Amino acid sequence: MSINDISIRRPDDWHLHLRDGDVLAAVTPHTSVDFARAIVMPNLVPPVVTTGDAAAYRERILAAVPDGHRFEPLMTLYLTETTDPNDVAAGASSGLITAVKLYPAGATTNSASGVRDIKKVYAVLARMEEIDLPLLVHGEVTDEEIDIFDREAVFIERVLDPLRRRFPGLRIVLEHVTTADGVDYVKSSSGGLAATITTHHLIINRNAILAGGIRPHYYCLPVAKRESHRAALCEAATSGDSRFFLGTDSAPHVDAAKETACGCAGIFSSPVTLGCVAQVFDNHGALDRLEAFTSLNGPAFYRLPANEERIRLIKHDAPIELPASITTADGGITVFDPPIDIHWQREQAAST
Ligand code: DOR
Ligand code: ZN
Repeated sequence: MSINDISIRRPDDWHLHLRDGDVLAAVTPHTSVDFARAIVMPNLVPPVVTTGDAAAYRERILAAVPDGHRFEPLMTLYLTETTDPNDVAAGASSGLITAVKLYPAGATTNSASGVRDIKKVYAVLARMEEIDLPLLVHGEVTDEEIDIFDREAVFIERVLDPLRRRFPGLRIVLEHVTTADGVDYVKSSSGGLAATITTHHLIINRNAILAGGIRPHYYCLPVAKRESHRAALCEAATSGDSRFFLGTDSAPHVDAAKETACGCAGIFSSPVTLGCVAQVFDNHGALDRLEAFTSLNGPAFYRLPANEERIRLIKHDAPIELPASITTADGGITVFDPPIDIHWQREQAAST
């Protein structure tokens, strides 16, 4: 018998870009309507580097949450070669800072202030290990000689594995894992390592970006890989393995910045994520494990309580018409358009 209606604990998004200013105001409600909490990425311009920056950004986020939505932003710091371990520790002990994000310099959007020489952040990492503050990594090397489709696997070998040996007690999240290599590496760990998986990497492979015309709205980093990797991500997400949880990496850019000769990386998926992820789990016959991926594994890793509130998801007979874009004062932002039919939707009245 097919399932047409499920109830799960309210989800969290363990990797999200909310931006700032007019875009922050426009995109935040699309997360806060569906998610109770989100790990908010710090790659603003300029980045969120100090606890003071994070406190101010948190206030700006809260001001963008509509009345009636319950939403808690979980703040992160952007790791630089001059990050002060004492500031990180103070932010963590005050409860403001949930994690620290490592961007290899130049790896992605607004990562110019990231880390060039990993040795320069050893003191911060040692302190994080001591106080048990998780490190979130953008797992791609930036070397010109490394093919863009290989950058995650090479990062694991050259950077992540040595880092884990040097700091065995440091808890790490391999953010937006995109390869079977990454999935296997996480599965081979005996603890302290987890991975987020995005909505779009569960649904598209690299053909979506490049076959039959170039589609900038499917371009993100790490770039989507071949189909066998997507299949590995779906297997990991739907397996119930507690080391894998949802981090949408919803990353809005106005259309003018995407539809250009050198477009930005990032896919804006917040408005459609829940339906998309439920559909993926349904297609894999794994709806009974959806809640683990969206609402249980993340809190367990971060040592936070799971949300008590529940939401209902309903399966409609006809495919849902999804929003194509949202408007902001800075311009339109295209919403992720999944190239599969989506029948699932959150029950409208139940969640806010
Ligand atoms: O596609 C991406 N967009 N990947 C990232 O790592 C950053 C993000 C952004 O900030 O736009
Ligand atoms: Zn991201």
